[in-house]
Amino acid sequence: MDKVLARDSGSAAARSRPRAAVVSIVAGAAAVAATIAVATSASAGTTLGASAAEQGRYFGTAVAAFKLSDSTYVGILNREFNMVTPENEMKWDATEPSQNQFNYTSADRIVAHAQANGMRVRGHALAWYAQQPGWAQNLSGTALRNAMVNHITQVATHYKGKIYAWDVVNEAYADSGGGRRDSNLQRTGNDWIEVAFRTARAADPGAKLCYNDYNTDNWTWAKTQGVYNMVKDFKARGVPIDCVGFQSHFNSGSPYPSNYRTTLQNFADLGVDVQITELDIEGSGSAQATTYGNVVKDCLAVARCNGITVWGIRDSDSWRASGTPLLFDGNGNKKAAYTSVLNALNAGGTTPPTSTPPTTTPPTSTPPTTTPPTSEPPSTPPPAGACTATLTTNQWQGGFVTTVRVTAGGSPLNGWSVSVTLPAGSSVTNAWSAQASGSSGAVTFRNVDYNRQVGAGGSTEFGFQGTGTAPAGTASCTAG
Ligand code: XIL
Repeated sequence: MDKVLARDSGSAAARSRPRAAVVSIVAGAAAVAATIAVATSASAGTTLGASAAEQGRYFGTAVAAFKLSDSTYVGILNREFNMVTPENEMKWDATEPSQNQFNYTSADRIVAHAQANGMRVRGHALAWYAQQPGWAQNLSGTALRNAMVNHITQVATHYKGKIYAWDVVNEAYADSGGGRRDSNLQRTGNDWIEVAFRTARAADPGAKLCYNDYNTDNWTWAKTQGVYNMVKDFKARGVPIDCVGFQSHFNSGSPYPSNYRTTLQNFADLGVDVQITELDIEGSGSAQATTYGNVVKDCLAVARCNGITVWGIRDSDSWRASGTPLLFDGNGNKKAAYTSVLNALNAGGTTPPTSTPPTTTPPTSTPPTTTPPTSEPPSTPPPAGACTATLTTNQWQGGFVTTVRVTAGGSPLNGWSVSVTLPAGSSVTNAWSAQASGSSGAVTFRNVDYNRQVGAGGSTEFGFQGTGTAPAGTASCTAG
């Protein structure tokens, strides 16, 4: 199957459904077996990406930019995968080696390769305690918090529209005890994670925003519970989180747990997608192959499991090469683990994917299909003030992100504006889904094209980010 076809999930799920129906109406056991064999081979994919797409999922790999000149590597990459994650190239040390000086050369190469070959990109990672540039390692407090916000804003804006999902925050939980990991970022205040998510949403409203971690696979582990409770809290408070990434680096010290599927399902039940983001399984032969197959079956059994990414192509590409944890050997040959994964994908799951739009923000590229007449104004314009605006703010020392919900009254809106008054010394640094006039004192935010029209009783959202203290909880909304 062509990789471009692999982008859509809904049709693939629909294609796989009749198979189960056919099987269920056939009576004899032998006939059932024959039906399965025929149906399976008829729709079986022959590559990881195509077979995953048949199940409405993606199959990805970590990619290192410097290996894109290795023809064996690129041959496998282009043949088998339809999602890529830059292995190191989008990390803070790589993208912002000196403060406020951004270098996207290597990451851009990977994104360009992906786009040229019909693959999507997982962005990894915006805020993380590790692989920080030296200058960030030496910051603390407000300076570090502001540097983090700036970093996220700049990088996510550079890649706006090109990223399927961002690992916004990576590895923020401690290995034991279920609490946060100590780090310079954590010491800026416990709200650093939600600030990171709000900032990422502001910069690229079209990307799914994920929290990503390791050793969160076993449902009984305290770390898993800690992350689960954070996600639950974020969903309850409207912090913009769309997905949870499970790195799933499995080895004897951190084995594949038999309750893995339970973990994935429990997270999904919070209302987030789940993704297997850095899969590798140390070992060899049939034991390794069986575990790989089980991981695939678990993902397919969970409707909101979007896909699987392995952390490298050949064993020799792995960050843990001595554990031979990947699907291809050092020569690029398919291992037993590869065959097991492909078979599991082709056998299909019990649960087709649910279609989950990434965010609540409408796309900026699509104009409204019915353009309102411009020549004649409505004879009875909606009264001024026929809308309300409610503010939700995330304040930290020195800065804030405010999300504003505009709700129409009994009449539809054809244009709106919201005025807020900033405290002295505060200013707006950027806004999304609205056009700001002014940056301090009284600031007015006017609709942009795509959110001009709001149905009676309906609502839309915009936001802004600033330095200093956020405006108080009320704002005036004017229709027209
Ligand atoms: C690893 C890379 O694979 C290595 O090349 C690099 O030296 C260190 O980082 N969790 C993550 C990944 O989120 O970014 C890490 O990648 C592996 C563990």
